[in-house]
Amino acid sequence: MKLWNKGFEPDRAIEDFTVGNDRELDLRLARYDVEGSMAHIRMLESIGLIDAVELPVLLAELEKILGTIERGEFVIEEGVEDIHSQVELMLTRSLGDVGKKIHSGRSRNDQVLVDLKLFMRDELRGIAVGVKRLFDRLQSLSEEHKEVLMPGYTHLQVAMPSSFGLWFGAYAESLVDDMQMVAAAYDIANQNPLGSAAGYGSSFPLNRTMTTELLGFETMHYNVVAAQMSRGKCERAASYAIASVASTLSRFAMDVCLFMCQNFGFVTLPDTLTTGSSIMPHKKNPDVFEIMRGKCNRLQAVPNEISLLTANLPLGYHRDLQLLKDIIFPATTTLRQCLDMCDYMLQNIIVRSDVINDSCYDYLFTVEDANRLTLSGVPFREAYREVGMQVQHGEYTPTREVNHTHEGSIGCLCNDKIAEKMNKVVAKFGL
Ligand code: ARG
Repeated sequence: MKLWNKGFEPDRAIEDFTVGNDRELDLRLARYDVEGSMAHIRMLESIGLIDAVELPVLLAELEKILGTIERGEFVIEEGVEDIHSQVELMLTRSLGDVGKKIHSGRSRNDQVLVDLKLFMRDELRGIAVGVKRLFDRLQSLSEEHKEVLMPGYTHLQVAMPSSFGLWFGAYAESLVDDMQMVAAAYDIANQNPLGSAAGYGSSFPLNRTMTTELLGFETMHYNVVAAQMSRGKCERAASYAIASVASTLSRFAMDVCLFMCQNFGFVTLPDTLTTGSSIMPHKKNPDVFEIMRGKCNRLQAVPNEISLLTANLPLGYHRDLQLLKDIIFPATTTLRQCLDMCDYMLQNIIVRSDVINDSCYDYLFTVEDANRLTLSGVPFREAYREVGMQVQHGEYTPTREVNHTHEGSIGCLCNDKIAEKMNKVVAKFGL
């Protein structure tokens, strides 16, 4: 039976179409739904809508439900529409009329909103942990291999000397920008919508400051209409953060695939971390990084999907919003898996330390040689021409000595400064 039963049962086909896979998705919200209800009833008791005897009874029952969720025993029963209905049903089943009191001053619209904010907060925090772990790994690889040169490319043509220190360190610093996006999305999620009810508040004297504090939100969405409008907006902000991290990861995964190719041969993986071919006996493929690249490329479509789903929705609740869960839930999971997998692979990556000695990379050093001439007094344009002519006539021999000293170059990676930037951002998460 529906929470909104008014003496008739809806057509079964309507029920199936509108509920879809919501029961399954809502399981991820179960814990947050119970926590939200606990805060709500404490507040209801404080304003006299639940009495002092009823509150502990309700809280104890909600604790029991929380236990079933933590043990993985919780189910949303067949015929029950969603997590909100299931929790209320369980309470009324065991407590009778007392259970029916908890929905005063609340709608499923603000209930699902609060569940989603709590969920997003946790997921974004989890993403931040994953990003930080990968950042630390990249930084330590950068330090470990800071002396090992590798070719740098522009237009995918041999350009100037780079180093493994610079390469790993570049992705670390890139993650700092991504982390800023994660932190911004976290702030947006960290606001209490509870009390906005169906989207227009309630005539009960709800104490929203109290539920804000009980649920540990940084602030609340004051305007009840704004609170309702944050459905979709919060997910969209999170999706931008997800897409930002994903773009860094997919690019890195592409680099690894390229650098593992025999024509480059800059890095390798232990055999156990590669995959084989059913026909070619020699194959050791970088499938992990390919799947990572594919998944992270798909994740970059998520903001677009959310924008299209919510485009032109006027203010207020619309059932379309339910479909957001189907987009954002798998997205957070996928990104967290990719972050973990990337870190796992990097624990085992093998760097080739003599790449640079191959004569096909000789031209990497032309700028270095032109600069050397410039330092000896030749104007740069002339030095450039002199080295250029040597190359043109096949007479160029590289000095192979590099002398980069400025901030952020191969000789001065500034990894400590980059770590400072990251630490400033992650302080918000207490990491
Ligand atoms: N499953 C619904 C959702 O995710 C819960 C809210 C239902 N509200 C309603 N007015 N039908 O949006």
